Amino acid sequence: MKKDTLLTHVGRNPAQTHGTVNTPVYRTSTVVFADLESYEHRDPDDFKSMRYGIHGTPTTWAFEEAVAKMEGGHQAVALPSGLAAITVALAAFCKSGDHLLVTDSAYAPTRLFCERQLRPNGIEVEYYDPLIGAGIAALLRPNTKAVFCEAPGSLTFEMQDIPAIAAAAHARGIPVLADTTWGTPYFFRSFERGVDVSIHAATKYIVGHSDVLMGVVVTNRKCWLPVRRAVADYGFCVSPDDCYLALRGFRTIGVRMKQQMANALEVARWLQARPEVQRVLYPALEDDPGHAIWKRDFDGAASLFGLVLHAVPRNKVAAFVNALQLFGIGSSWGGYESLVTAPQPEKVRTATEWNPDSPLIRLHIGLEDPADLIADLEQALARLH
Ligand SMILES: Cc1ncc(COP(=O)(O)O)c(C=O)c1O
Repeated sequence: MKKDTLLTHVGRNPAQTHGTVNTPVYRTSTVVFADLESYEHRDPDDFKSMRYGIHGTPTTWAFEEAVAKMEGGHQAVALPSGLAAITVALAAFCKSGDHLLVTDSAYAPTRLFCERQLRPNGIEVEYYDPLIGAGIAALLRPNTKAVFCEAPGSLTFEMQDIPAIAAAAHARGIPVLADTTWGTPYFFRSFERGVDVSIHAATKYIVGHSDVLMGVVVTNRKCWLPVRRAVADYGFCVSPDDCYLALRGFRTIGVRMKQQMANALEVARWLQARPEVQRVLYPALEDDPGHAIWKRDFDGAASLFGLVLHAVPRNKVAAFVNALQLFGIGSSWGGYESLVTAPQPEKVRTATEWNPDSPLIRLHIGLEDPADLIADLEQALARLH
């Protein structure tokens, strides 16, 4: 099946749900059993049949199956947020005395978790240059238990060579965990690129409508039980209503993302020609340093990118952002609407440097007409002068 056909049909079975097109919302905490024997013989590692609401219901599994199949993974588990998906996956692989390699471009709360929860519990966290590629081999130690990637970084957009990192890690039997929120299960087939555990903030493009917080971890066969058991041990679960909404959003990820990528490319190319803009950070652009890897590894691009302005004082940056009418100022991305922030990556980086003199703007391009977005950016850029 081609991927748009799969996206339309996966995770639902009208013959089993009284003919409903979509898998209905199953709400329950308790699941009752026919007899004591079947109750007492529940398999603690069977997470895909009815045991207790915390382990999911057909609504949860429909969503999880859809994401796992689209991405080409073994199985998936839904989590209450993207951050929860990251933290539980890291916790599943790292114990006291272990060494963990994390890309310097990781989402800032991922680093906070490493610093405030993992390090005090005896895990040695080391940040590496996102562009390290095969050079990661030199950082691997006998006690390295995972390599964490994010491609591209969601503030600075360095494209990581995940196949090269995975080849080095796998040669030492070390799993590769990756925050693949930007790539999505639609545009990035993680498992074909060497990822073992793919982590998504489903809150972004999977949900797609800025109304649900959710995460999802997809794994290969080998990593499934450690991850799924960790989710159960921490007691994480997701409401069936949210899973229903997430799957409803996911059905249209293909059309949304293709349109949003086209809009983003139009806006990004227009910005590249503007005198106020030093660089546009978007691997989908031909002259981006990560373009060749992006083209090799991805089927498309998210509509989230950065632009580096020529040096201006912070108050001018604020005047530009505040003047935008069609871009909401706020966290997150991947919804149908455009957003803007002005991140300061120099405040979080430790392994690599980010020049704070050139202000960074992050744009998420939504489904608006790009001509309107360009007109809005043009009037706001005037505030920089
Ligand atoms: C790259 C990336 N990963 C993970 C997350 C966390 O997702 P959530 O907001 O659902 O916790 C975000 C949120 O902005 C993100 O940008």
